[in-house]
Amino acid sequence: MTISPGRTVETLSTNEFGRCLTLIAECRRLLAQFYRDPDVPLQYALAHESTHIYFERPARGEDPSGFFFARMPETISASLPLVAYMGLVVVRRSLAEKGTARRLVTTFLREVRETVGPDTDVLAWYRTATPFGLFPVQALLRDGFPKAEGAASERALADLRELRLAHGIPESEPSDHPFVVRGYAASRYNETESQFIAEYRQSRGQDLLQRLSVNESHGDRLLMLGYVP
Ligand SMILES: CC(C)(COP(=O)(O)OP(=O)(O)OC[C@H]1O[C@@H](n2cnc3c(N)ncnc32)[C@H](O)[C@@H]1OP(=O)(O)O)[C@@H](O)C(=O)NCCC(=O)NCCS
Repeated sequence: MTISPGRTVETLSTNEFGRCLTLIAECRRLLAQFYRDPDVPLQYALAHESTHIYFERPARGEDPSGFFFARMPETISASLPLVAYMGLVVVRRSLAEKGTARRLVTTFLREVRETVGPDTDVLAWYRTATPFGLFPVQALLRDGFPKAEGAASERALADLRELRLAHGIPESEPSDHPFVVRGYAASRYNETESQFIAEYRQSRGQDLLQRLSVNESHGDRLLMLGYVP
């Protein structure tokens, strides 16, 4: 799909991507800028977080500037509508690439909508430990929860319970926020990225992840969900 002259978002199935050793190496190189061990998020994304991989090239023939791993809608429980998953996003950090993550995610959401047609509900979810992860639920999904201050609707809480059951994600501690899962993820940001996030937060003030003590370096994550627009 052409976004602007020369800028394109391409899609491959996870199987196709797995055969493109150059693309894998480029994705790994981007991940190495942010993660202690780039293979941890990459292998997890390939094994669990994707049926498809979206990537953007800033211009024809140039190396990709960002990748997004996602699962197209699937039936995972009789108690849930179709469920899509939004996995690992990694984008080269430069002013010129601003908006890449947004374009990758919106391309996915548009393709999901085209695939299921206008009248089918699709629940989309993901997990995050970074302030960027608060953005898709607030800006790109319909009825996204938790809200910036932590609130959730009854329907969102019911969807969350079913998602946890279907994926074997342990219940939160009664004293904890229902969307928090502790000690769950294996990937870890490197020093540079941890520092980047700390500085970003200093300029913005406390976000929901900080208020709920979601500690990335302990594997804590906030579960996020909403409906595909
Ligand atoms: C997080 C990341 C994907 C953002 O990519 P990006 O292309 O810069 O994001 P975009 O420019 O599309 O920004 C979309 C929105 O996200 C928000 N955002 C972007 N980077 C952010 C950050 N570091 N912290 C908080 N919010 C951020 C902004 O609100 C922005 O909206 P705006 O353009 O209306 O201001 C990129 O910095 C990255 O690859 N980080 C390392 C890997 C990672 O943490 N991935 C996410 C967890 S899977």
